[in-house]
Amino acid sequence: MTGEKALLQVEDLVAGYAGSRVLNGVSLRVRAGEAVTLLGRNGVGKTTFIETVMGMVKATSGHVYVDGRDVTGKQPHVVSNAGVAIVPQGRRVFAPLTVEENLEIAVRKGGEWTVERVYDLMPRLRERRTNLGSQLSGGEQQMLAIGRALLCSPRLMLLDEPSDGLAPTIVEQVGEILIDLARTGLAVLIVEQDLRLAFDVADRVAVMTKGSIVHESSVAEFRRDGARAQALLGVG
Ligand SMILES: Nc1ncnc2c1ncn2[C@@H]1O[C@H](COP(=O)(O)OP(=O)(O)OP(=O)(O)O)[C@@H](O)[C@H]1O
Ligand SMILES: [Mg+2]
Repeated sequence: MTGEKALLQVEDLVAGYAGSRVLNGVSLRVRAGEAVTLLGRNGVGKTTFIETVMGMVKATSGHVYVDGRDVTGKQPHVVSNAGVAIVPQGRRVFAPLTVEENLEIAVRKGGEWTVERVYDLMPRLRERRTNLGSQLSGGEQQMLAIGRALLCSPRLMLLDEPSDGLAPTIVEQVGEILIDLARTGLAVLIVEQDLRLAFDVADRVAVMTKGSIVHESSVAEFRRDGARAQALLGVG
């Protein structure tokens, strides 16, 4: 990858919470238009990594560059303005607001994504536009969370376990949406437990064990090496 320009470049990132270090020097790159999946067992630090990139958790040391710009330690809105959007674990849609209100508050003026374009990508949200966040199914909430992130008109979308709690047919639908988005040239970093979804969407795999990246390869290579997947993830 040397010489190729990275959209997201993370170098030796160290972060954690009061009294506990979670990330022990994580380095990872995502190129423009690339889809990467970050895998790892429960509690290894995947969410902490995504939230540190986004500026929601403070980095102790190391660097986060977006399109060459150092955003380490910046507020989330600065990272968002640099072109990164997050679809958080657990979705966090605003329950007392309607679908349309959830979307409208996320719109970045002058951005390439509009509420209508989100509805065209996910017509189910148009059908449910007047329903409250609290009235949506898990799949609809996930679509709404994706729609909200898109309305920031990002160049890179960070997704934290989008399949969590969804029925298999719904996971498949979410996967199709993400594949469509990746085809438009949006770069994607997807944390997943559902390997099928991860491998459908991503071209490259990174595996995290306790606070660092211990494996990187193409999805095709990773899929051929079941023993390695078993050793790293306990699956395969
Ligand atoms: N807000 C917090 N305060 C203190 N410790 C935290 C906090 N959030 C996470 N942790 C701890 O940090 C470690 C990494 O958690 P993190 O949520 O990043 O892991 P994860 O890989 O996303 O796990 P999962 O697969 O369950 O989502 C865990 O030991 C967790 O208990
Ligand atoms: Mg997590």
